[in-house]
Amino acid sequence: MKREDIGGPIRGRYIDDRFEEGIFRLNPGVYSDPELFELEMKHIFGRTWIFLALESQIRNPHDFVAANIGRTPLLVMRDAKGKIAAFVNACRHKGATVCRSAAGNAKYHVCPYHGWAYDSSGKNVDIKDRKSGAYAPAFDADNHDLLPIARLESYKGLIFGSLSADVPALGDFLGDMRLFIDLVMDQGEHGMEFIPGRSTYTYRGNWKLQMDNGTDPYHVTSTHVSMIDIQVRRRAGQGNVDARQNDFSKVKGVDQGMFIFPHGHALLWVDQPEPHKRPIFPRIDEIRKRVGDLHAQWMLKLRNTQFFPNMQISEVNALMLRTFQPLAVDLTEMRSYVLAPIGEAPEYRAWRLRQFEDFFNASGFATPDDTVLYEECQAGAGIQGIDWLQGCERGMAIIKAGADEVAQSLGVNPTHSIKSEAHLNPEMAFHSTYREWARMLEAGIEGRDPYA
Ligand code: FES
Ligand SMILES: [Fe+2]
Repeated sequence: MKREDIGGPIRGRYIDDRFEEGIFRLNPGVYSDPELFELEMKHIFGRTWIFLALESQIRNPHDFVAANIGRTPLLVMRDAKGKIAAFVNACRHKGATVCRSAAGNAKYHVCPYHGWAYDSSGKNVDIKDRKSGAYAPAFDADNHDLLPIARLESYKGLIFGSLSADVPALGDFLGDMRLFIDLVMDQGEHGMEFIPGRSTYTYRGNWKLQMDNGTDPYHVTSTHVSMIDIQVRRRAGQGNVDARQNDFSKVKGVDQGMFIFPHGHALLWVDQPEPHKRPIFPRIDEIRKRVGDLHAQWMLKLRNTQFFPNMQISEVNALMLRTFQPLAVDLTEMRSYVLAPIGEAPEYRAWRLRQFEDFFNASGFATPDDTVLYEECQAGAGIQGIDWLQGCERGMAIIKAGADEVAQSLGVNPTHSIKSEAHLNPEMAFHSTYREWARMLEAGIEGRDPYA
């Protein structure tokens, strides 16, 4: 079939989604076309819910944290009365970045350029030398406050924002993915927080390469061979055994599966043959009492979740939340955080941190391997002549429409499910993300409401 016969302006050109025929392919331009990047910024990042921060990052009045929606810098703040709001972090005078810190506490934010000042509710409280400015009445009649974003909602302490007012309620957008947030945020009796600090780095590749990798179990045994070699040595008692990293040799043959949800979300789960490697394991009885047997059991499984478009929570080693911020078609900024129960005992927290450093840190044994491969993929994405990549088709012959028995036992209703032994390593999660990606782009290009 010719590309132009396949579908709409995006599907025909970039995606060949003929699921019934066992075909799901992407054109490499998905990762490399600069025009497409501009469309993504407008019709996806400008049009949907984006994860911004944890409420526990801004616990006190006047706490703030910087965030992004696409290329729009934001300031998420708690005001004097405790209300949370998010504003475009750009001065109303000439657009300079008002707050240049990643996080902190400040009653006032004074723009470094000409000194206009804003309070923690975004209100403009001072225009320097206003009296001597000979401003016309039209200026006085203008609003000078920081620009609030159109929508802000939280689920279980996770704050999401949207630049568009026209989005579904956050709960509807997340749908059954809320359960997989519960499985993370219910781990702490008193809630969850980020351990101070984060791992930030950039890679020279498209943001969707990270989107793909988060639910890609197929790459592990080839991309991470050096880490697997290190694990062999650690099994012999050599090197850093403190991290108690998940041993990849043990997941061969255990059950794994994927759920694909509406709005581009997806989950990869793998049975955990070594539950004692999870830093919550010593507390699992307390957790079980609060959340019940089934949820406690799922908290111990390995889970990688993709929240469309650019947030992932991974519980393979430690408990990591990361965002991937698109800076250009071939440049992405990663921000990875360690999630931990509030009030966690120091020995468990140290264990969690060692796992994170060992695996997910920019200097860990896994992340640099992945990042280099994104750059290699980006090199391939610019090559002329390859019409279709073949990286979305593992598992196609056994994927099921609707909920399988695993999903039913959890009470979630995915559009598709797959369950197999771990060596299958399906590529089905990408169908969810790219279908939503194409759907939103096409709606935007055609001037339709993507959520109508
Ligand atoms: S740009 Fe902020 S005061 Fe001028
Ligand atoms: Fe990886």
